[in-house]
Amino acid sequence: MNKDTKKLPIYKFFNSSKKYSIKWSSYFQVYEKIFSSYRNKKIKFVEIGVANGGSLFMWKNYFGKKAKIIGVDLNPKAKNLEKYGFKIYTGSQSDKNFWKKFYKKEGKIDLILDDGGHKNLQQISTVHFSLAHVNDGGKIVIEDTSTSYLKKEFNNPSKYSFINFAKNIVDIIHYRSPLLGKNLNLYAKKIHLVEFFESITVFSIDSKKCWMNQEISNKAKNEWAADFRYNEYFGQIKNKLNKKYGRLNKRSFLRRLIRKLFYRNFLFNIFDNIKIRKIFKKIQN
Ligand SMILES: C[S@@+](CC[C@H](N)C(=O)[O-])C[C@H]1O[C@@H](n2cnc3c(N)ncnc32)[C@H](O)[C@@H]1O
Repeated sequence: MNKDTKKLPIYKFFNSSKKYSIKWSSYFQVYEKIFSSYRNKKIKFVEIGVANGGSLFMWKNYFGKKAKIIGVDLNPKAKNLEKYGFKIYTGSQSDKNFWKKFYKKEGKIDLILDDGGHKNLQQISTVHFSLAHVNDGGKIVIEDTSTSYLKKEFNNPSKYSFINFAKNIVDIIHYRSPLLGKNLNLYAKKIHLVEFFESITVFSIDSKKCWMNQEISNKAKNEWAADFRYNEYFGQIKNKLNKKYGRLNKRSFLRRLIRKLFYRNFLFNIFDNIKIRKIFKKIQN
């Protein structure tokens, strides 16, 4: 384990928790990054997956007295932990009706962390049934997302893996661009940011930051800037042809043909894609 991790407050609370808990060593640095600003604030924190309760004690000590710590587990034995001051709900994270009742009772929450069953439907249901109930400024955090790549027990990789679902949300966030002409659904209207860590995905919720984008400019004049986006290949070829044939007449057939072929999309996409394929191949295992 990285030696700096041992110095993190969250790790210290994990280590000193009075009940058993297992976490992956990289998670503590992620927790500090995404949760430290919520410490000692009046928040509602929900953890799906209680097991022995070890992490509930860690969260209680980390977030402080003002935070309400709520646990959700399918195992009814988790209810025993209510004697320590936690609120525990028994039910399945993939059950729509469970969440209906849960949010009817609890109202809006600030943070929800999924350390439950880690199956695709379970992780996706957490996001889908909780999204409408997370306050602006809050987060939905899904742990153990490496299960999206595991065959054994999880039947992945699959088109319907959690990570593929999350990649869809990356697409949906881009629909806030007016260039795409899309209607905005709840996901586009509420999820401001998606962060991918190894085995943890974080959705930051903030409807106030999710407006349909607009292009704006300042008051200065555009003096000489032109978009050279299409000049890469055309520029080189043009120079070569210029060398060979001298400067081309503006209206010459050759010049018009070159513009058609190189300046717009066709060949240019082919050239680009050859280069892109090479990069893709290099980064994929
Ligand atoms: C990895 S353990 C949780 C560990 C705990 N967070 C900790 O760090 O100490 C996973 C828990 O998720 C619960 N679980 C599994 N499937 C579930 C489901 N569909 N709904 C709610 N809880 C579930 C299991 O009963 C188990 O207690």
